[in-house]
Order: sequence, then C-alpha cells, then structure tokens
Amino acid sequence: MNATDRVLVYGATGHTGRFVVDELLRRDLVPVLAGRSAERLAAVPPRHAALERRVVGIEEPDVLRRAVAGTGAVVNCAGPFLDTALPLAHAAVGAGAHYLDVTAEQPVVAALYRELDAPARAAGVAVVPAMAFYGGLADLLVTAALGGGSRADEVEVAIGLDRWWPTAGTRATGTRNTATRQVIRGGALTALESPAPSRTWSYPSPLGDQPVVQLPFSEVITIDRHLDVGELRSYLNTAALDDLRDAATPAPASTDEHGRSAQRFVVDVVVRRGGDALRMTATGRDIYAVSAPIVVEGAVRLLGGRHRTVGAAAPGEAFDAADVLATLERDAGAVAVRSGAARVLG
Ligand SMILES: NC(=O)c1ccc[n+]([C@@H]2O[C@H](COP(=O)([O-])OP(=O)(O)OC[C@H]3O[C@@H](n4cnc5c(N)ncnc54)[C@H](OP(=O)(O)O)[C@@H]3O)[C@@H](O)[C@H]2O)c1
Repeated sequence: MNATDRVLVYGATGHTGRFVVDELLRRDLVPVLAGRSAERLAAVPPRHAALERRVVGIEEPDVLRRAVAGTGAVVNCAGPFLDTALPLAHAAVGAGAHYLDVTAEQPVVAALYRELDAPARAAGVAVVPAMAFYGGLADLLVTAALGGGSRADEVEVAIGLDRWWPTAGTRATGTRNTATRQVIRGGALTALESPAPSRTWSYPSPLGDQPVVQLPFSEVITIDRHLDVGELRSYLNTAALDDLRDAATPAPASTDEHGRSAQRFVVDVVVRRGGDALRMTATGRDIYAVSAPIVVEGAVRLLGGRHRTVGAAAPGEAFDAADVLATLERDAGAVAVRSGAARVLG
C-alpha cells in the first residue's frame, strides 16, 4: 500500500460519503474514512468496518494535516462546504495531497480558486472542487461539446429531475449559502437577476416540456475558470425545486443493490458558437449516487498522473472531459451521454 492508493474521504459518514467509499473500493483504491464525530465514524456500515478511520474536526488545522499525511488525495464530502472546503484544501495541499470535493456552492469554488491555486502549484498537486453532479457534470459536458475549443457565444445548462429527495446535508447547505447566485452575462460573472427568469424547457422524454427557473450552481464558476463564454444561463425544473422547498419531502431511500434512489436526472447542455449549436445530454439515476463515480474518476486520474494541470482547476480543465464522460458511461454505467445538433429551444 502506498500514498497513491490511499484516499482520505472527509464526511465519510454522510449519504454521499458512503457512495464515495464504495466507489473507491470498486476502483481498487484504499479509502481512509474521516469525519468530526467518533460516534458516527464508529457506526459506518459493516462493509466499511475494517477500513482505517480518523476522527478530526475542521477547526484543527494541524490535526487535519496529520490526518491527510500518507494519503495521495482527499475527497471532501462534508457540506456545507462553506464550512469545510478551505480548511481541508489547505490541509491537503500542506500535506502534498490532491484535493477534490462535491460542492455545488458557487462562493466555495471561487474561494478555492482564489486561495489555493498558488499553494497547490507550488506543492505540485491539483485542487478540483465541484467534481460532482451539480457543477462538474455540466462543466464536463460543455467542455466536451466545445471539442477542444474554449469559446462559446452562449451556453445553456438545464437540469431536470423527476423528483428531488434532499439529504440533510443539502438542506443545511441551502440554508447556509445565502450568497447571490452568479451567471455569465457579457462575458463576465454577474449577479442573477431577481426574480430569477423562468421559461419552458424541452427535456428529452420522459420529462418532456417542463417549466424551469434559472438556478445556477457551481458550474458557472468552473466554466468561467477555463472557458470563454459570452452568456451562461442555468435552469432547474420548478417541480424539483418545489420538492426541495417542501419541508415534508423525505430524504432519498435506497431502492437497488447499490443504495441508489429511484430518482432520474437529465443534464441538458446547449452550446452555441456562430451559427452552430450542439446539444449534449447526460441522463442517469440518483444525483447523490452518481457524484461518487464522478469524483472518484477524478481521484483515479490524479493519482495515476492523468491530469492536465496542477493548481486549482475546473473539472474540464484538469481532465480530458470527453474521456471522463466516456469512462463514466462505459465503466461505471453512471450516465448515458448523447450529443447532436440542437434545435432552437425558444
Ligand atoms: N454537487 C453535487 O451534485 C452534490 C452531490 C452530493 C452532495 N452534495 C453536497 O455534499 C454535501 C453533503 O451531502 P450529503 O448528501 O452527503 O449530506 P449528509 O448525508 O447530511 O452528510 C453530511 C456530511 O457532512 C459532514 N459535515 C457537515 N458539516 C460538517 C462540519 N462543519 N465539519 C465536519 N463535517 C461536517 C457530516 O458529518 P457528521 O456525520 O459528523 O454530521 C456528514 O458526514 C452537501 O453540501 C450536499 O449539498 C453535492
């Protein structure tokens, strides 16, 4: 066993953290389970009971750095990431390990890019936030749609969920993150107008035509990091948002042998440049579960030296986006990806 096999999962006790631990094991890596609560770490599922565990709070920088020592990468699954990302990324970089997380929070990604780029470059490691369903998947699709180019006149990202069963972590993150959301307008990050614009989006079946509202997540910050986009608008179907806003909506329940819920998702991306418009669509099951193969694919590539840059980077900047998507489809069976000329969506 060496550092390049070992991956510290912070927030390993959480819903997403458990999927990530399972996926690391599936990929023959060695998860080191970490979190703030000895009690919750002691109560991991029996299949994780033999794994090494490290109890450490986010407010203990020296202990955190020691906890990371001897691992090749950190995957942070502990949100709200406004509380955890910076201390953990500093600890990872300080210990010479790569850092990845699954944040959907825009200000977190912006802060990591701002604060960790220079130290990570100096340490020769990568810091790749938002390697997950929200953020990373759209970033990878847009990058792949551009086929090696970096400029687009207009990008639209439409996420469609047949329902949203939010976890406690998602609810806490929504309450914690009150920052004004950002879009790209006139080539620059700009505050989303209020009230957020709405329209109808034509998703592939079975979702079909749905009312949507602009609700940008971390993909705006990752795309702005490495691509030259004139306008970027991100939408979510209002039915999913209604589920999220309803305090009575239950947490996700396992319905298959992998622990996935029955939730179905679509990430629809339309990229326009000049007279050309390309649409790329990823479909799959369970937005929490699918974040595990996405972030673990990033860890596998970082540990294997199959990344394009060190320092703080967007998913599509750090990795070969088309190849990551193909791997997620082929090896993990995590998403199905389709592409084709876009029709005018109104
Ligand atoms: N971008 C995406 O697509 C995507 C996908 C999945 C999840 N997420 C985000 O990931 C986060 C976790 O989601 P989840 O579904 O796994 O939630 P969860 O089941 O509620 O788990 C939350 C985890 O975070 C830990 N945690 C929270 N605050 C912490 C703090 N201040 N210090 C240390 N540990 C802390 C919890 O530790 P304890 O057990 O000690 O409470 C627990 O392990 C949320 O922010 C969610 O929105 C994003």
